[in-house]
Amino acid sequence: MSSILPSTLSVVSGMRSTGKLHLGHYHGVLKNWVRLQHEHDCLFFVADWHALTTHYDDPAIIAHSIRDMVIDWIAAGVDSHSATLFVQSAIPQHAELHLLLSMITPLSWLERVPTYKDQQEKLRERDLATYGFLGYPLLQTADILAYRAALVPVGEDQVAHIEFSREVARRFNYLYGREAGFVERAEEALRKMGRKPAKAYKELRDAYLERGDSEALDTARALIERQPNMALGDKERLLGYLEGHGRLILTEPQALLTPQSRMPGLDGQKMSKSYGNTISLREAPDDVARKIKTMPTDPSRKRRTDAGDPAHCPVWPFHEIYSSDETKAWVQEGCRSAGIGCLECKQPVIDAINAELAPIRERAQALEKDTGYVRDILMEGARRAREIAEETLTDVRRAMSLVWE
Ligand code: TRP
Ligand code: SF4
Repeated sequence: MSSILPSTLSVVSGMRSTGKLHLGHYHGVLKNWVRLQHEHDCLFFVADWHALTTHYDDPAIIAHSIRDMVIDWIAAGVDSHSATLFVQSAIPQHAELHLLLSMITPLSWLERVPTYKDQQEKLRERDLATYGFLGYPLLQTADILAYRAALVPVGEDQVAHIEFSREVARRFNYLYGREAGFVERAEEALRKMGRKPAKAYKELRDAYLERGDSEALDTARALIERQPNMALGDKERLLGYLEGHGRLILTEPQALLTPQSRMPGLDGQKMSKSYGNTISLREAPDDVARKIKTMPTDPSRKRRTDAGDPAHCPVWPFHEIYSSDETKAWVQEGCRSAGIGCLECKQPVIDAINAELAPIRERAQALEKDTGYVRDILMEGARRAREIAEETLTDVRRAMSLVWE
């Protein structure tokens, strides 16, 4: 593990391959990835194994989606020179780490993850009483810990999974994080920290180890995180020492909550494939126009002469995303006074979506033709990802005594 302070953080995120991407993915995920790729070391991958946990009876769609999905990523601005792009199943280290972590993961932790019961209820038509589905959050944990990621950009619904992965990392470090001369090294790191903070650290550590004061543990952790000039290795040692055990082998990641995107669907619900209310990233301009033109509007505007209220209309949220203040004022005024018709009102939305999609569609079309391009990117990405993951696995195997030469 490196002991230099990284100038950029490592970021990992995955997307299940279950179909074509739509505007919801673009505004909710991809725009965020495009921004992050310039700020951090990013690894973005297609979670095809995760897709299998729910779509095991229809695996062909998963394989089909992979290439299309990566084309959409790149067309939307994800750059294979800035970020590492790969397919999960090309990295056996994820599977190995999943297996090894399964040895130390209490079943009750998995059963308690809220998405487990929620998804089983929601996807009643599928039989999800499988081993793989129960292990979904642990496989996700392996995806993240294999790269010792600091940050995981996810939506609200995934926060419990990141919290779970933190617990697993902590348990692993607790069980296996010992190194020779650990106590001496920790004491040495403390001396380098300076008298005052070192004293505070010791008092907080005692409060935790002797009296189980978990607030003291949190305070001490924050104290270590705040140290400006401390090497990463020393930080890890002191964090581990706090809990009476060794250095941290696996990193506890943080969820990086994706800024809430309010991408509405064509029917006013959230845009989602399962609601059939999407506009795909490669939607043809005529289809965009048709889909918007047939959108429902404020039910009180039955006739052109009826006044309406944008607050009751699913088209309005689109104006909020795409329209200028001037256009929005025009909609508010025209709708309430029946001065404009709904088709007229929808036109600026159609134009804006088509303007947004035009360059994406164009890039995607070029990528579709060039079959080797995406394959090469994924092969190169997998090579880089494997290298990092193998470093982690080397430490993990050693920590678990799986070295016998
Ligand atoms: N479970 C995530 C989702 O459904 C996808 C995913 C798999 C993921 N592995 C990951 C996200 C690792 C972040 C990090 O959206
Ligand atoms: Fe909706 Fe616009 Fe029609 Fe008003 S004028 S009901 S905002 S589509």
